[in-house]
Amino acid sequence: MRSYSLIAPAKINLYLEIIGDRPDGYHELVMILQSIDLADQIEIHSISDETIRVHCEHPQVPTDKSNLVYRAAELMAKKFPAALAKYGGVDITVDKHIPVAAGLAGGSTNAAAVLVGMDLLWNLGLTQSELEELGATLGSDIPFCIAGGTVIATGRGEQLSPLPSLDHIYIVLAKYRSLEVSTAWAYKTYRQQFGSSYLQDTNDLAARAAAVHSSAMVKAILEQDAAEISQKLHNDLERVVLTAYPQVLQLRELFAHQEGVLGTMMSGSGPSVFAICASQPQAEQVKLRIREAIPDEDLELFVTRTTGKGIQVNVDG
Ligand code: C5P
Repeated sequence: MRSYSLIAPAKINLYLEIIGDRPDGYHELVMILQSIDLADQIEIHSISDETIRVHCEHPQVPTDKSNLVYRAAELMAKKFPAALAKYGGVDITVDKHIPVAAGLAGGSTNAAAVLVGMDLLWNLGLTQSELEELGATLGSDIPFCIAGGTVIATGRGEQLSPLPSLDHIYIVLAKYRSLEVSTAWAYKTYRQQFGSSYLQDTNDLAARAAAVHSSAMVKAILEQDAAEISQKLHNDLERVVLTAYPQVLQLRELFAHQEGVLGTMMSGSGPSVFAICASQPQAEQVKLRIREAIPDEDLELFVTRTTGKGIQVNVDG
């Protein structure tokens, strides 16, 4: 086939704990990542000249090398020059629905879709773990975005251990359109403020990472207990982002006091905040009440739900 259409879902962090520094300058993390059905659509087709073209109508999304989509295509072209010569370059269109710079892995999931799409387009036959390895060189969240579902992620976030998928948990998601938080800033500020408490010893780091498997959150996930999962939500980065961004703190508190909300947390490095609800009608009610409380058009609100899938080929596309 000369073209593919792919669905690229966003993620939320049910759990994010920063446990130490890494020699590569990143952080050792323990996370539980969850795909949601809020997704972008990526169209990718072969072009005769050996170039990469990226299109996106969203005003906040660049189409040059600063976009991970471009860098993913460039990586594939570099790794597989024979395929580039045989099949030509690629033209990629991103239909953006996931809020940008939101802590929802929007850029990472787009790049993941490009890796999956170019593997198909160029008949490379790469395995999922080969694709994940390539993805990890571009961004820590990309391996998860390829795999999707409900996953424990450790190391830089690229070491994945799948959990049974948590389907049909309803979520209200909120993000101020004009508010962007730099992930690098959030981690750097956290290190400045709390770095003195990081674990230093390699054995201690390994033990802490392993402990997540027997944690209350994993037990709640295994039991598909939405109320218990909601009680165990955790994100260390809230400690820096909620302090620096009062609007996000306000949103977080507003969610916490809504009837029908089982639990609420910021996702990733923010500034998006999500709330878990017991049912779709309750999620719709919560969304309405948040809209009434904050009639600001800059605030984007979505009702979405958990999904067990990562990047998918859109057969209707
Ligand atoms: O890997 P990715 O490019 O998505 O990470 C963005 C930034 O977040 C990194 O440049 C780094 O500053 C920070 N980060 C970190 N530790 C991680 C993942 C990300 O410090 N495990």
